[in-house]
Amino acid sequence: MTGLFDRHRRPLRDLRISVIDRCNFRCPYCMPVERFGGPSAFLPKGDWLRPEEIERLARAFVRIGVRKLRLTGGEPLLRAELPEIVERLARIDGVDDLALTTNGVLLPKRAAELRRAGLMRLTISLDALDPARFRRMSGGQGEVADVFAGIAAAEAAGFGRIKLNCVVQRGVNDDEVLPLLERFRGTPHVLRFIEYMDVGTCNRWSRAEVVDSAELLARIGARWPLVALGRSQRGEVAERYRYADGKGELGFISSVSAPFCGDCTRARLSADGALFTCLFATQGRPLRPLLAGDDAALGEAIAACWSMRADRYSELRAEREREREAAARVEMFRIGG
Ligand code: GTP
Ligand code: 5AD
Ligand code: SF4
Ligand code: SF4
Repeated sequence: MTGLFDRHRRPLRDLRISVIDRCNFRCPYCMPVERFGGPSAFLPKGDWLRPEEIERLARAFVRIGVRKLRLTGGEPLLRAELPEIVERLARIDGVDDLALTTNGVLLPKRAAELRRAGLMRLTISLDALDPARFRRMSGGQGEVADVFAGIAAAEAAGFGRIKLNCVVQRGVNDDEVLPLLERFRGTPHVLRFIEYMDVGTCNRWSRAEVVDSAELLARIGARWPLVALGRSQRGEVAERYRYADGKGELGFISSVSAPFCGDCTRARLSADGALFTCLFATQGRPLRPLLAGDDAALGEAIAACWSMRADRYSELRAEREREREAAARVEMFRIGG
């Protein structure tokens, strides 16, 4: 089907499929240990979509325009049937890209089988090089050496150009930015810095902890001259740069200081099969009940949901921020003048 757009004329192109809501880390900005101590915080295993259900849903999304699939979690490598899921998705006609986001520590066990199953690309989260800092940022669960072992295993399995995602928080890991870049300069991998976001309900986000990409760009550019490359395609989240001396590429994901909702073509499927049309959505549309019916009804339900979509949370957040700033300026002018 062509011509499916949401209420802001955005097509549906990407589907991010969560295969599990559990994780072996407890990063404070995502799954703080105080809130996610025990198993009761998560879905029972029986609620996870089965591999054949994931395939059927993915095929329905591809029929109405999706071209990129990304597997996520929680931590997707904790899902035992992951290679089967990848294999099923890799053989769907019309999928141009099949990627996975992971914290990397289980890659030594699983990278080769995932590659064999047809996984095309990997993104690995890496917030710090310093071992103590890394441990703290993974909620006491992770060792940075294990992530590097994961990166090495991924390289050995044939993942040539890996994206490395670093969420930057002021006063927490902003001093890791230059050492991280130093470590990956001269490799084919692409380090990307993500502005800390107010996702979910439990990370006690504050705007003061966000390091705007413009600030990072100035800091990095003072050390290594950079050349802007822009975005490689519509809907891409990262703004790309290369080192002027040819030592590789890096990126910035600025969803707080420069939101990209206008081009957002992403839908998300939760581990239990609900469709979310925004990372900040409050409600999902459960798709599992529709699996009892035929493909036409499934496709129509997804298309109906997308055509109603009006989400642009990050842009609204930025607009609110500008309004607050404008109000503050008026007040100061009156008092100071
Ligand atoms: P490719 O560009 O295809 O490699 O993938 P990607 O960059 O979309 O995927 P990835 O999971 O690496 O996304 C990186 C980070 O960008 C995520 O972890 C989020 O922090 C942020 N992000 C991704 N998609 C969105 C989105 O739709 N909205 C917002 N606000 N942030 C997003
Ligand atoms: N802000 C920005 N990115 C986040 N992620 C998780 N929580 C946040 C947040 N609060 C992203 C990171 C991480 C991936 C799994 O999810 O990119 O690497
Ligand atoms: Fe969340 Fe990823 Fe950290 Fe797990 S590794 S707690 S999914 S950010
Ligand atoms: Fe898309 Fe929502 Fe993120 Fe905006 S905030 S880019 S609409 S997922």
